[in-house]
Amino acid sequence: MNDQASALRQIVQNIKNQRARAPSEGARVVCVTSGKGGVGKTNFTVNLAISLSKKGLRVLIIDADFGLANVDVIMGVTPQYDLSHVIRHEVGIKEAMFEGPNGVRIISGGSGVLDLLNLSEAQLSTVVDKLLCMEDVADVILFDTGAGVSPNILRLIGASEEVIVITTPEPTAIMDAYALIKTVLTNSTGKKIRLVVNKAESIAEAHDTMAKFAGVVRLYLKTEVEELGYMLSDPTVARAVRLQRPFVASFPKSQVTRDIEAITWKFMDSQPAEEAKGLRRFFGNLMNRAK
Ligand SMILES: Nc1ncnc2c1ncn2[C@@H]1O[C@H](COP(=O)(O)OP(=O)(O)O)[C@@H](O)[C@H]1O
Ligand SMILES: [Mg+2]
Repeated sequence: MNDQASALRQIVQNIKNQRARAPSEGARVVCVTSGKGGVGKTNFTVNLAISLSKKGLRVLIIDADFGLANVDVIMGVTPQYDLSHVIRHEVGIKEAMFEGPNGVRIISGGSGVLDLLNLSEAQLSTVVDKLLCMEDVADVILFDTGAGVSPNILRLIGASEEVIVITTPEPTAIMDAYALIKTVLTNSTGKKIRLVVNKAESIAEAHDTMAKFAGVVRLYLKTEVEELGYMLSDPTVARAVRLQRPFVASFPKSQVTRDIEAITWKFMDSQPAEEAKGLRRFFGNLMNRAK
């Protein structure tokens, strides 16, 4: 009982800490990515967002998968505008934000994130001023990116403070995740990299995959990747996608929902990278990388 009470106190304190961070230091900017496609990034991002939101945090998802933007499809919402409308000054940032389940906000990147990289410095700074308003509405900003090591994804990863890499236990996904992390580490140092194993057939397989992967990265890349958690393979995910209602909302008692819950606590517990400075720093980094 005592243990439970102190655990609860810790949880409340964590929420307070994360909240307290918002006005002074800005939101936690997190990039969700993978080496291989189809490993579950979008489902992970959407459901983590809802789960964080249920714990009292304000969450914004930026759908930055230029090829297969589908956060809106999984959430069952239809965006009218995206980031490229904001950049072209056609709408304000608030109009481009739409609300999904549990108050989670979403901005569809469209080609907007790419456009950002092609603006002149003067244009960029007016746009960035607008975009910084996003920080007023979010404690956590999650970028759902595409897969692989394309220059644009690397720029996004490079600009974010935290990276969550998703892999499945399949050797091909693991090899691609390793290649991605290797490239990320040669492009930028001091980044916090966390690993999620998705579609594992058992808890043992999940742990085994995480431990082996972390071991190889430690040995060859001299870097610690943090194990954020796992999601077991669960037919609920596909069912929720078909319903266009994220599983955390539509199947709250399912195995994957419990897995996401555990990941959520771990995420809230973990401290962001030391130099974390929110969106302002993110855009600063993005500008430097665009040059
Ligand atoms: N834990 C899981 N169990 C079963 N199927 C899953 C799981 N996670 C994702 N999927 C399925 O994998 C496919 C790809 O998921 P998605 O989130 O779109 O991946 P990505 O964004 O990485 O391309 C979808 O068909 C989804 O239903
Ligand atoms: Mg996706």
